[in-house]
Amino acid sequence: MFSLPLRDDALLRPLETWHAAEFATHLDRAREHIRPWVGPGFVTEDVAGARGTLRRYAERQAADGARLYGLWLDGTLVGGVMFTEFDAAAGWCELGCWLEPAAEGRGLVTRACGVLLDWAFTDRGLHRAEWHCRADNERSAAVAERLGMTLEGVRRQFWRYGGERYDKQIWAVLAPEWRAHRR
Ligand SMILES: CC(C)(COP(=O)(O)OP(=O)(O)OC[C@H]1O[C@@H](n2cnc3c(N)ncnc32)[C@H](O)[C@@H]1OP(=O)(O)O)[C@@H](O)C(=O)NCCC(=O)NCCS
Repeated sequence: MFSLPLRDDALLRPLETWHAAEFATHLDRAREHIRPWVGPGFVTEDVAGARGTLRRYAERQAADGARLYGLWLDGTLVGGVMFTEFDAAAGWCELGCWLEPAAEGRGLVTRACGVLLDWAFTDRGLHRAEWHCRADNERSAAVAERLGMTLEGVRRQFWRYGGERYDKQIWAVLAPEWRAHRR
């Protein structure tokens, strides 16, 4: 299985069904931190739920769709990045990410998303990558900005959480923009 070093102490590799117990333990550290900002189906409560998430991604990857990758810091699973959507025929994808609190502030997600964008635009020939986040998720929007994405618009009161509705931002980067940004 491949394992890509992001730095001396951090690895990016596929997050697969056999990681279910490790993923569930990581979610115990991450759950309340990520809950307001990610889809409710991702925030599972036990190993069976974690395995269900990993299986859904595996099934979608088998159809050349969504894909999930974990981030290991000093040997511990601390978060990950994903293609929440991947449509090769239409030439676009959507990226997502999460971290447990102790792994924030190290540039891991920005670097890992760069790897995904390189693969999507270079190896797979996609043209457009999107980033969706709650409009008040400043750390997430900062990742989109660091990736050279443009804020294209806001879906007003689209995101429901805790009985409230929040605006959702749509960011995107096009293949030539990414190549220029990478230089
Ligand atoms: C969104 C989230 C993944 C961002 O995490 P993050 O640590 O801010 O993002 P990165 O891993 O790219 O790290 C960037 C931070 O590391 C710092 N950093 C350190 N070394 C760096 C490097 N070599 N390169 C880039 N940034 C670096 C940056 O300055 C920045 O910190 P700052 O915001 O305090 O200035 C995280 O806040 C999270 O999991 N939130 C909850 C779940 C969530 O919102 N998911 C996204 C849903 S849309």
